Amino acid sequence: MLDALKIQPRTGANAVLLDVRGVTYKAAGRALIDQIDLSLRPGAPTLILGPNGAGKSLLLRLMHGLLTPHSGEILWRGGANSLETRRCQAMVFQDPVMLRRSAKANIVHALKLRGVSRAEREERTMKALATAGLAHLAGSPARRMSGGEQQRLAMARALALEPEIIFLDEPTTSLDPASVKAIESLIKDTRDRGVKIVLVTHDVGQARRLGGEIVFLNKGRITETRPASAFFRKPESRAARQFLAGGIVE
Ligand SMILES: Nc1ncnc2c1ncn2[C@@H]1O[C@H](COP(=O)(O)OP(=O)(O)OP(=O)(O)O)[C@@H](O)[C@H]1O
Ligand SMILES: [Mg+2]
Repeated sequence: MLDALKIQPRTGANAVLLDVRGVTYKAAGRALIDQIDLSLRPGAPTLILGPNGAGKSLLLRLMHGLLTPHSGEILWRGGANSLETRRCQAMVFQDPVMLRRSAKANIVHALKLRGVSRAEREERTMKALATAGLAHLAGSPARRMSGGEQQRLAMARALALEPEIIFLDEPTTSLDPASVKAIESLIKDTRDRGVKIVLVTHDVGQARRLGGEIVFLNKGRITETRPASAFFRKPESRAARQFLAGGIVE
């Protein structure tokens, strides 16, 4: 199991990569993310669980610097999370958008935007496609690929950026079991290479399979943060217990 794996982080064992401190995000006067504190460390994945509308996607966007908190701060390695530091990060959205180009051109384009040299773009793209098991579809129009293939392409595009941390927003929703397995094995390979995984999932089975640290979010607040094994044995918060029992979370 993951908890037993000796993962070698690229930085000091306990150095915080990303620190969320007292972050609140509001819309129409309502706190959608409410006073959140969360420290992301290298090593085991951080899995964000919670019901629909809990604020999981908002929290990922805030952490990746795509939204600005109304109060609190988000630090990357102790400094501001700027446009520059965001180059160390990658994100796969809940509904990834592909350009009307080939699978390969989609990745090449993302690398070009990051200022990667032409020679390196080609090499990294082919490597990422191969890792995602998509080398044979390199020339296929991305938007005509199946849902599972497009999700894998989105992962490949994010991995080609060689991030230190990758934010994944429900990358396996509505995929068949074989595609879920393919994406989970890609996530595990990525984790084993020392990339910090931050994954939002509804899939309790997936959270059990991937292990790591569980962050349970409900109504914009974290109700508990615990190792997966302890969380699944005995969740502490009422909201998490209701969620795991398949009931309606109040
Ligand atoms: N820009 C916005 N303006 C107003 N409300 C918003 C905005 N973005 C999100 N919300 C609301 O904030 C809440 C949290 O949204 P979010 O997308 O983060 O939920 P989620 O936990 O990712 O849910 P799901 O599991 O359905 O993806 C929802 O009630 C949503 O309607
Ligand atoms: Mg969401």
